[in-house]
Amino acid sequence: MATIAVFNQKGGVGKTTSTLNIASALAALERNPLAIDLDPQAHLTHSLGVDQATSNGISSFFRDERSLLDLVQYRPSGLRVIPAHSDLSKIDALSGKTRNVASRLREGLSEHLAKENVPILIDCCPMLGILSLNAIISSDKVLIPVSADFLSMQGVQKVVALLDVLQGRFGRRFDFMVVLTRFDSRRKLSFSIFDKLKEKFGEKVADTRIMENVSLAESPAYGRDVFAHAPSSQGAKDYFALTHELIEKGFFY
Ligand SMILES: Nc1ncnc2c1ncn2[C@@H]1O[C@H](COP(=O)(O)OP(=O)(O)O)[C@@H](O)[C@H]1O
Ligand SMILES: [Mg+2]
Repeated sequence: MATIAVFNQKGGVGKTTSTLNIASALAALERNPLAIDLDPQAHLTHSLGVDQATSNGISSFFRDERSLLDLVQYRPSGLRVIPAHSDLSKIDALSGKTRNVASRLREGLSEHLAKENVPILIDCCPMLGILSLNAIISSDKVLIPVSADFLSMQGVQKVVALLDVLQGRFGRRFDFMVVLTRFDSRRKLSFSIFDKLKEKFGEKVADTRIMENVSLAESPAYGRDVFAHAPSSQGAKDYFALTHELIEKGFFY
């Protein structure tokens, strides 16, 4: 089992788009992935066309009402997903401050899914609270999408500093990989951000850059990943290449 938290405290950087399309590429490669929506905004759930009204969200796992396996839904692409519901926003408040509250998801995954040996991707919300901590503590690696804009470097540095703190506290390494998204080859800024990221984080920056591409923005409106929506688009090519790069670099074992 390789669990990946897709996290950046900055919103709109491509966390959900990356989770959706990397998980879908892994499904196409018959790796039997599971995507978990851990954002109360439930964008991943909507992007996959799951009806929130009928879905049992992951919040019922945090409320001790359902097991993780109970909550898995199958999409036509073969992707499995545990959806979110807006009531997930209450989990932070309900969780209190007990010591193991941030390890609940990790325990649930190792109890129910450890034997499966499949890739698990967790789409995080843009806030560092109980939910994102659960995702990061469950994960083997953190994927940090960064959009090619002005404040992007600061966002990555914040996440990397957080991983350092967690390393000290939990006594284990939290490895990460940065991927540059919304790359616009007409803008010098895109190239200079990529160079700066490479300078600072070297091998930890994916060579594959995700270009700004309209098919990536459109596909969620149809409840589909980019491969189903526009298989020959630049977005489909980029996410397929990124998934291959992550596999080659041992991200999914
Ligand atoms: N490479 C891209 N090209 C064009 N639009 C994109 C791209 N990546 C993300 N978007 C769009 O930008 C918005 C924010 O992306 P999203 O994945 O939801 O970010 P986050 O989950 O980090 O908040 C969405 O409307 C999404 O469709
Ligand atoms: Mg999102």
